[in-house]
Amino acid sequence: MKGLFPLEKFRTVKTPFYYYDTALLRKTLEAIKAELKKNDNYHLHYAVKANANPKVLRLISAAGFGADCVSGGEIKAALEAGFPASKIVFAGVGKSDWEINLALDADIFCFNVESIPELEIIDQLAGEKGKTARVSFRINPDVGAHTHANITTGLAENKFGIAMADMEKVIEIAATLEHVKFTGLHFHIGSQILEMGDFVALCNRVNELQAQLERHHIKVENINVGGGLGIDYQHPNEVPVPNFADYFQTYRKHLNLRPGQQLHFELGRAVVGQCGSLITRVLYVKQATYKQFAIVDAGMTDLIRPALYQAFHYIENLSSEETKETYDVVGPICESSDVFVKAFDLNRCHRGDFLALRSAGAYGEIMASSYNCRELPKGYVTEDFAG
Ligand code: LLP
Repeated sequence: MKGLFPLEKFRTVKTPFYYYDTALLRKTLEAIKAELKKNDNYHLHYAVKANANPKVLRLISAAGFGADCVSGGEIKAALEAGFPASKIVFAGVGKSDWEINLALDADIFCFNVESIPELEIIDQLAGEKGKTARVSFRINPDVGAHTHANITTGLAENKFGIAMADMEKVIEIAATLEHVKFTGLHFHIGSQILEMGDFVALCNRVNELQAQLERHHIKVENINVGGGLGIDYQHPNEVPVPNFADYFQTYRKHLNLRPGQQLHFELGRAVVGQCGSLITRVLYVKQATYKQFAIVDAGMTDLIRPALYQAFHYIENLSSEETKETYDVVGPICESSDVFVKAFDLNRCHRGDFLALRSAGAYGEIMASSYNCRELPKGYVTEDFAG
């Protein structure tokens, strides 16, 4: 089974490029909306870091979701794409003064604060503007996740968040500051998580912390559990939409929300991952001593995930139905790590064939670089090839 692509239209543009299937993106957004409808206190802030292509962002903002940003640049991109400031949350361990000022001027929903020094600077900058900043504290729950070490974030050894043990002290400090208002707690344990048990562990930690804070009569309006739901990289055609029902049900079942409390999510990958493919052409088929290489015009500069996280992206030859052969699919960059996949079966490849590297909608285009003085790949949506 292969995905559906407007192959003839692909000939009219330069490769490599990203292609976003907007019908699938819409279907994914609808699936999330249907789940969120079941609880009017559940809110999604799409994690802009996963994909900030303006056309993709517009579709997500039009669906009514908020945005989770980690830089001033992302806040600007979110505002330009129509996300209301009142639904923007701003996280990050190292927020610069200009970024804090930008967020204060825009009057965003909330800063997710990661340290006491950061809290003090937000208080000072808000004071200079005569404003009060709404803040949540990012707690490091010390919960592991069954995912790649580079994308776990909720362990004590990670740089993120404030230790649970320091929480009360931090809330007490916030109460003494005039220009910040404590409104909630923020968590995020990692990315590409497929075991619901990891989220259950997070829920248990949040429940413990809430009980502890209640003993000190501290009220929490908002709980933000971050993102992290994974996608099926092995089967992009069979599982194009992640299992949102299971994911949200896990929180419904295991998180003890207090009356009136709002629950916020920051999904990124699960929203955009499956709708995007990196489209590349075969430059050469090279027979080497022990193997054959399909050398393509996309490289690790266009999609760095395999080189950086040993990530797997399913590949399809869109131009060939011939018998499958085994290839190492590699790029043109002068680095041995510029390999997309080793020993992978593809319909027999020829120069000029179009290959689709699937499940590349999240952390693909946005992580591209111009190393080797390469042009950044462009991103097209279905509508760009219509007519
Ligand atoms: N919230 C926070 C605080 C985060 O740090 C992240 C991702 C998210 C939400 C969204 O997580 P998601 O739902 O997408 O899993 N470049 C890596 C992934 C890095 C994720 C960083 N933080 C990759 O290509 O796998």
